[in-house]
Amino acid sequence: MSDLKKIRDEFLSKLRSKLDLSQVNQLKTELFGKDGLITKQFKKIGSISVSERKKYATELNKIKDELQNLIISKIGEIEISEVNEKLKKEKIDVSLPERSIIRGKIHPVSQTIDEISSIFSEIGFSVEEGPDVENEFNNFTALNTPDHHPARDMHDTFYLDEKKQKLLRTHTSPVQIRTMINNKPPFKIIAPGRTYRSDSDQTHAPMFHQVEGLHIDKEINMGHLKGCLNYFIKEFFEVDKIKMRFRPSHFPFTEPSAEVDIGYKIKDGKIVIGEGDQWLEILGCGMVHPNVLKNVRVDPAKYQGYAFGIGIDRLAMLKYGINDLRAFFDCDYRWLNHFGFDPLDVPTNYRGLSR
Ligand code: PHE
Repeated sequence: MSDLKKIRDEFLSKLRSKLDLSQVNQLKTELFGKDGLITKQFKKIGSISVSERKKYATELNKIKDELQNLIISKIGEIEISEVNEKLKKEKIDVSLPERSIIRGKIHPVSQTIDEISSIFSEIGFSVEEGPDVENEFNNFTALNTPDHHPARDMHDTFYLDEKKQKLLRTHTSPVQIRTMINNKPPFKIIAPGRTYRSDSDQTHAPMFHQVEGLHIDKEINMGHLKGCLNYFIKEFFEVDKIKMRFRPSHFPFTEPSAEVDIGYKIKDGKIVIGEGDQWLEILGCGMVHPNVLKNVRVDPAKYQGYAFGIGIDRLAMLKYGINDLRAFFDCDYRWLNHFGFDPLDVPTNYRGLSR
């Protein structure tokens, strides 16, 4: 038997047995790879005597075609049978009962932050963020809060080191400092986020949320502050009219400073905003103190403006009728299911800002 016939017979019988894809590929390499048996036979052609050469080459080509075709059809067969196997396994049983879908809810605080951000962005405020862990310069010193100020007291502030250099920010006001240090005026930003104070009762939690507002330009005055807050409160509570009062107050970083109350009444056990003669404090604000501007290298002779800090959780409690602040952070699934928001069915004044 010639070499060629031997190769042919050997591989024909191998290829007819039951093989998987990798075994077929292995045989393919054995025959047609760089050092494959058929490849070698082709290399031999040159050394065969001229009289024999034609016959040998014809025979070799015939065997090559035969084996190649067999390999191709074998691979095709294996692939089809693999697909059939898969289809058999993946059969869908339409008679099975459906699996119930648990769709998560948006936390009322997240929802409120979204609403606040979209309301302010409509009047040109951009949204800034800052870290929860701050240094004492951004949280106090740059904000014109002297060393002996009671807000720095251990009872209020969570310090993270003995030297009192690192702390959990007690308000969102340090984002004012970060924004002004890193950018050039004018500034028109809000900064929502988590804040921390050592406090806990029905209306205070050690972690709570604020949104800071800052508007600095050449001619910004208290009238702008009033107009801005008036617009915001009306939009937020979805009312045409509100009662708002500015009470003189003190913050080291604003001068003059004020606290803002909104008027409300209780009707049929529910809070009605904008009517009645009861007052509720919702924010602190004022004109940014010239010392703060100096601390961030903004010239107070050229620039001035207002800042405010609003308690977000309190706004959420008022708007959505939630009376215990601590429930916000209890992670009670039933509570969240009740007070949370369906992500696909958001309230009317949500304007599509994503967190
Ligand atoms: N940072 C103040 C607070 O937490 C609120 C505030 C912000 C007051 C900006 C004035 C200006 O109580």
